[in-house]
Amino acid sequence: MKELFYLNKYFVKYKTRFIVGILFVILTNVFKVLSPQVLGYAIDLVSENLTLTRAFSGFELKEILTNSIYKNILIFSLVYFGIALLAGLFTFLMRQSIIVMSRLIENDLRNEIYEHYQKLDQAFYKRNNTGDLMNKATEDVSKVRMYLGPAVMYSINVLMLFSFVIYSMLSIDVMFTFWVLLPMPILIFCIYKVQSLINLRSRKIQERLSDLTTHAQEFYSGIRVLKSFVQEKLAINFYKEQSQNYMTESLKMARIEAFFFPLMILLIGLSTVLVVYIGGIKMNEGSITPGNVLEFVFYVNMLTWPISSVGWVATIIQTAAASQKRINDFLKSEPIIKNISNEKADFNGDLVFDNVSFTYPDTGIEAIKNLSFSIPKGEKWAIMGKTGSGKSSIAELIERLYDVSEGSISISGKNIKNVALENYRENIGYVPQDVFLFSNTIANNIKFSDLNFTIEDVITAAKKASIHDEIMKFPKQYDTLVGERGITLSGGQKQRIAMARVLIKSPELFILDDSLSALDTKTEKTILGNLNTSFENKTVLIITHRIPSYIKFDKILVLENGSLSEFGTHKELIQLKKHYFSVYQKQKER
Ligand SMILES: Nc1ncnc2c1ncn2[C@@H]1O[C@H](COP(=O)(O)OP(=O)(O)OP(=O)(O)O)[C@@H](O)[C@H]1O
Ligand SMILES: [Mg+2]
Repeated sequence: MKELFYLNKYFVKYKTRFIVGILFVILTNVFKVLSPQVLGYAIDLVSENLTLTRAFSGFELKEILTNSIYKNILIFSLVYFGIALLAGLFTFLMRQSIIVMSRLIENDLRNEIYEHYQKLDQAFYKRNNTGDLMNKATEDVSKVRMYLGPAVMYSINVLMLFSFVIYSMLSIDVMFTFWVLLPMPILIFCIYKVQSLINLRSRKIQERLSDLTTHAQEFYSGIRVLKSFVQEKLAINFYKEQSQNYMTESLKMARIEAFFFPLMILLIGLSTVLVVYIGGIKMNEGSITPGNVLEFVFYVNMLTWPISSVGWVATIIQTAAASQKRINDFLKSEPIIKNISNEKADFNGDLVFDNVSFTYPDTGIEAIKNLSFSIPKGEKWAIMGKTGSGKSSIAELIERLYDVSEGSISISGKNIKNVALENYRENIGYVPQDVFLFSNTIANNIKFSDLNFTIEDVITAAKKASIHDEIMKFPKQYDTLVGERGITLSGGQKQRIAMARVLIKSPELFILDDSLSALDTKTEKTILGNLNTSFENKTVLIITHRIPSYIKFDKILVLENGSLSEFGTHKELIQLKKHYFSVYQKQKER
């Protein structure tokens, strides 16, 4: 329950709506309680007048009295109808204000969660799977909404109805009220028991259903493997079995539900019998009227249904509290990478690694060990090394997707932790090793850094990345959708679009992580030729397994197990006759 207090700030935000909603709940119940009173009053009046009319039988006055009874009946009918209409109207308004409030809060909460997602860093996303993340934003929030809307509304409603009904009953006759309400606790207990059984069953059904869908989904996505290993029968049998389980649980549930409604009707019936019996005795004593008895019958009926919703509301609150706990834990998780300064980075100086070591937070793998180097502004460097030697880790550290564990990285003498993070990243053009394109048009993918870029800018960038001609061959050209709903691009095409995405923003520092790997030598040559102008005066880091022969690197850095193993110019490394030399030799032989 404590977890749900987090939502109080939203009740405060929408306080007008909430207060108005409560007001409507009160009005609804006032009119609901009023209608049996009118009915009781009418019955008493009519029965009294009837006795009177009989007494005057044979006189002329009888006619007048009969007419007045008819008139009264008509008036009471109209009043009764009016009250019912108003009760209906206020019920509508009550739902309009409270349920709408819950939808508004749901929307706010979802946005709050989504905003928090954007703040968290890569380490968080590596730790949590996408399914969990999606769950939080959708399922958990809808469960919380059930508390904000229906649960809150029903609780206030039941509370109001009980107060009004019991007040009205007491004002007629205290002892009568006492006797009539005596079986209520038993009723509450029975309903609560059956309700918790229903909850238990419905949870079981949910589990079975999710089993069923997960397995079906897995079979569908693995359909190629399934068919090539001729295992369709296995799949069918498995599905049958799961389906059978689901059905068994559903039948159990149906049985309990079938029991629930007759039980309710029986209990209401018993209460009504009690009212009539005790009411009869009281009427005989002359302490109450037939109208009062009728009122009581209505009141007892009115109380029964809200009681049955108490268990339901309790379940909603429990589930909502569990969901809100997950949401609260998530909202409390802090990003490790923090922006602590507004000072813009100066990219005119050297980029320096000073004794940097880095261990991945969750796996404990030490990817970089005591690495030191200094890249002067405008130089072009290659980073090489065997797979798993730590090349991509260097790129991620420069981008500040992770912070170093020891040592420091600085730009123009300033630690990168102490510069404005957004501005710093904006000045870096990073093409990651595993290229990712959004399911959007090619043009929007290229101008992702700033959607204000014109189509001319997009085309210029695409031309530099040697992808323009291929894009023009697609039916919708730059408006072609990529990804699931659009066309599937080849690895090399994706790499070049990702390259164009970086070239368009002309950053101060380029980091290309294995971005030329899927290209043939001819395309690689054209691109690198085009890039010469884009790279002018810019610092460039190219991570590669091959030695691109069309670019002259100022320095080459070779890593081994996260440490520096070779460093120098092409000539120097050839003389060293180590990793670089062997790669060079092999490339030459081909
Ligand atoms: N997100 C991560 N979490 C934990 N460990 C990681 C992560 N990314 C990489 N590693 C580990 O860090 C080490 C260095 O990986 P890195 O990706 O930097 O190598 P690489 O030189 O880029 O390799 P490749 O040439 O295959 O791209 C590897 O042992 C790898 O298993
Ligand atoms: Mg890598």
